Parts: sequence; structure tokens; C-alpha cells
Amino acid sequence: MSDAHATIIASLEQLAGAFQASFDAAPNEQLLRDENAKVLGKKGALTAILKEMGKVSADARKSIGERVNALKSEVERAFDDRLAGIRRREREAELSAPAFDLTLPARTPAPRGHAHPISIVRDEIVGIFESMGFSVFDGPQIDTPANNFDKLGFPPDHPATDMHDTFYTTAGHVLRTHTSNIQVRAMTTQKPPFAFIAPGACYRVDSDLTHSPMFHQIEAFVVAEHVTLAHLKGVLAEFAERFYGTGTPVRLRPSYFPFTEPSAEVDIACVFCKQSDGARAGCAVCKHSGWIEILGSGMIDPLVFEQCGLDPERWSGFALGMGIERQAMLRYGIPEIRLLFDNDPRFLAQF
Ligand code: DAH
Repeated sequence: MSDAHATIIASLEQLAGAFQASFDAAPNEQLLRDENAKVLGKKGALTAILKEMGKVSADARKSIGERVNALKSEVERAFDDRLAGIRRREREAELSAPAFDLTLPARTPAPRGHAHPISIVRDEIVGIFESMGFSVFDGPQIDTPANNFDKLGFPPDHPATDMHDTFYTTAGHVLRTHTSNIQVRAMTTQKPPFAFIAPGACYRVDSDLTHSPMFHQIEAFVVAEHVTLAHLKGVLAEFAERFYGTGTPVRLRPSYFPFTEPSAEVDIACVFCKQSDGARAGCAVCKHSGWIEILGSGMIDPLVFEQCGLDPERWSGFALGMGIERQAMLRYGIPEIRLLFDNDPRFLAQF
């Protein structure tokens, strides 16, 4: 046996005699793996020994190879045994540790936010009109008095234009008092036929149980050829049916708006007492009439078409406008508009 051969065999036997002790001493899986790598790893002792193989004869290499393979299997088996032992001990420690107290109260997750009732109602109403073919037309909350009043047929001395009712900016603009300004903006920029719906914030100098200086409206209007009151009635019936429930009675009551002719206020049977049909009709909310007003509407006045540059001989249309807060209050039985703006989480959590 050559010296080199003898040295390799001696190193292998030394390794064979030593690894078990280092495995046994490893207290956990990570340190066991470290010890294993010191023997079998790329920079381990066995690899170092094999680098000496070039110095021995082919015969010697064969017998060393056999010894190396046997040693590898020994190491691997020892590693697996020791690993199983470590895991078993850890599991036993876990099981004998003090038990979890399953009766402890759980941590309650922080309450999740959700859409505000005004947004919920707005989205639902917009969705109903979109399904009937309307598209959303957006516009500014600060507009000219012309778009908010004049082109809609308000005479210059109309009480609505008074400082008591309308917020004016120092530059002479108005915070729009209704979403009807969008009718003007659509008619002066779009080519009919069209059907638009315009939701958004409006402002009036007004504040009581049912009015807030900032509130929301939805305007819907159609401009096309040969539009009649029957189209308006159909859309109103569909809206009442979908938003207030199947079979909700609807009635049109003659009224006046500067921008529609004829005009109608639209009532539905009182959602509270549901007694629109007889002498017993009524509760305090509907003032014992059995009916509740939900919106204003009418056929677009030819004068408005003219003011917006559309030929009134050719074009016809209807318009309607409703307060979103009002629909929310009726729908959910909310008695005071302020509840919708206080944003008390105990109130909002109910929607
Ligand atoms: N702009 C009216 C208001 O704020 C509501 C309204 C009435 C809108 C009749 C309309 C309409 O489009 O046809 O009181």
C-alpha cells in the first residue's frame, strides 16, 4: 500500500469514527445540518479527502471508492436517525407544554369601512337609469348663473337667485343650486339624441330637519325627436318599481318649474303608512295624504332648447331631478337629514 493510499484510508477511518459524536451533540435541526455539511458538503471533510485520490493507483482508487460509498450511507443513515430524534423531542416538548386557553376571548378585528348610505343610494339609482340606456354626464359644482339659472328660464328676479337662497362666489359664480345646470351643459355641447344622468353635490342657503346646505341630486334627461310625456311616465314607473319595490303606486301632480312645460311633481304611495287608497289614508310623515313626493319632472321647455341653441321645432325631451338624501330617507326611514351628514359610526354601521 502506498503512503498516499494509507493516508487516505487513515483519514476516512478517522472521519468514520468521529461524525456520530458530532451528530449526537447537535441540539437542533439547523446545527445537525451544519454538522452534516461538515462531512458531506462541498467544503466538507469527505470531499477534501477525495481530492487526494489523484495520488493513488487505479486499484487503490477502486477500494477507496467502495469504502467512501459505505461511509456516505452510514453518515446519511445517522443523519436521518438523529433528525427524527430531534423532531420527536421537539414535538414531545410542545405537547407537554402548558395547554392553550381556548376560553380566552378572541381579538376582535377592527370594524371594516363601507360605502356611505348616500353613495349606496346614488349608485343604485344611477345603475337603474344606466340599465334603461342613460349614461352619466359629469359637470362642475361651481357654475355660471347663466348655466344654473338664466338658460333654464329663471327670470333675473326669480327668488331662487336671491342671496338668501344661493351661495355666490366673489367672482360672481354660483355654487350650483341643483344638477339642472348639467342639462344646459349637455345641450350646449352634445348633439341629440341623448339620455343622460347627472349625480352630484348641490348647495343652498337652507338648513333644517330635511334640508342641508350641501346635498345631492340626480338629474336625468332625454333629448330626442318625438319624446312625449308617456316616455317620462314609463321611466318614472320603472324607477319607482325598481327603487321602491314592485307595485309601488306612482302619481303625477301638476306643478311648475321654470325649465319644464308641462311640469309635474311625482308622488309615490307613502312608504310608511302604505295607505294611498282610501279614507283611512295617512300618517304624520305623509301629512295624512297617503302620498309622498319624491321628485320634480316635466317636458323640457322649448325656451330652454332655444337658449341652448337647439331647434325646439325638431327636438323634444323630458327631465327629472331628485334629491338623493330624500330617496335615502324614504328608503331607509331616516327621520332627520343630519343623520346622513354626522357620520356617527353607530348610524353608518346599519347600512
Ligand atoms: N331642479 C329642480 C330642483 O332642484 C328639480 C327638478 C324639477 C329637476 C323638475 C328637473 C325637473 O329636471 O324637470 O328643485
